[in-house]
Amino acid sequence: MTLTLHDNSGLLGEEKLDELCKKNLEYLDFGNTLDWLLPEDSEMLDGCEWLGKIIGRDADVLVVIGVGGSNRAARAVYEALGSRSRTQIEWVGLNYSAKEMNALLEWLKYKEVYINVIAKNFKTLEPGLWFRVLRNWLIEEYGEEEYSSHIICTGTPGSDLHQLAEGNGYYFLDFPVDTCGRYSAFTPVALFPLAVAGLNIREMINGAKVMRMMLEKPDHNPALMLASARNYLYENGYKLEMLSFFEPSLERFSKWWTQLFAESEGKDGKGLYPIVGSFTEDLHSIGQYIQQGEPILFETFLNILDTEDRQIDLTDIPDGFEYLDGKTFNDVNKAAFKATLEAHSKRFPCFKIDIVSLDEFTFGELFYFFMFTCCLSARILGVNPFDQPGVEGYKEKTIASLKANI
Ligand code: PA5
Repeated sequence: MTLTLHDNSGLLGEEKLDELCKKNLEYLDFGNTLDWLLPEDSEMLDGCEWLGKIIGRDADVLVVIGVGGSNRAARAVYEALGSRSRTQIEWVGLNYSAKEMNALLEWLKYKEVYINVIAKNFKTLEPGLWFRVLRNWLIEEYGEEEYSSHIICTGTPGSDLHQLAEGNGYYFLDFPVDTCGRYSAFTPVALFPLAVAGLNIREMINGAKVMRMMLEKPDHNPALMLASARNYLYENGYKLEMLSFFEPSLERFSKWWTQLFAESEGKDGKGLYPIVGSFTEDLHSIGQYIQQGEPILFETFLNILDTEDRQIDLTDIPDGFEYLDGKTFNDVNKAAFKATLEAHSKRFPCFKIDIVSLDEFTFGELFYFFMFTCCLSARILGVNPFDQPGVEGYKEKTIASLKANI
């Protein structure tokens, strides 16, 4: 993975970025305090693989119940790479939609179904509600004796979910106590569902380890560069950061990225607002604003170097697109990317993150890179990256209003 600055706007430039990094170097000195980002736990990895293999062999569907950080990292990888086992994953517990629940129950009929409920302490209402209904459905389908072997709980030891699992004989996986959801990519929260889908979770960890080594060095440290630039631009009126890409299968990854930065930095009346550009589709909508609207955003591009390609068909029917003859999809996509980067970097600084290909190793690199960058960036901004009091406020108010109506 490499990070490069593209700036023809005169706002930032290499020299200024270098100066900012030197000034912010102190924030890199974490000692061991961020070790939990990537737990070295081979037992945990073995456990996820072992159980993942069994469920991935037996299940038609794994229903993952979990919201926010309890679902986004795994879903990002799954939606980009797909399943390599017989098991398809459904992601629920994200809302209170009866329509969605009814459709799911209808679709699950006659399928071999397992459930993975993921909740740090099992106080959040969305997963609580979906788990109750789906658990009853499993009891009806498999009977009191057998249904419990279809449930895998991922929660913190000692939590309500742990007690529920112990009391009813469900499998239980650890959600580490010192990790909050959006930083849980390298724990069973994300690793277990990915193992069920037959994805190579060891490669994901390897990618993260390589990235960790890269980020230990202060010189040309890409996390420090991005974190420093983000804060400098924010102070200079650029209040939005846009994550853009030309491969739509990264859309779920962008949801993970959005949550990571919004929840970690958006507090105390501060923080960059994270937005997403899925190109080229969004160039035909917000593309106009980016080019000529109020100058309030800068952009970080994800660029995959080696992607699937396809030759564009030739045609005997003149259609006005003769310049496509002999070209591939990637020729066109790369031309669009080059043109976009050129145009946007005239207006504001752009960062380009080149990744070799879309696979488990790369996702490991990306998760580690952005989690680490986010911690640095939040520290430079002066906020706590690990709490989300606003979200907790929403949860408490909803629950209080429901309790008041009992
Ligand atoms: O990052 C976080 O900690 C949050 O986004 C949580 O993941 C989210 O609110 C869900 O919480 P829980 O796992 O307790 O249901």
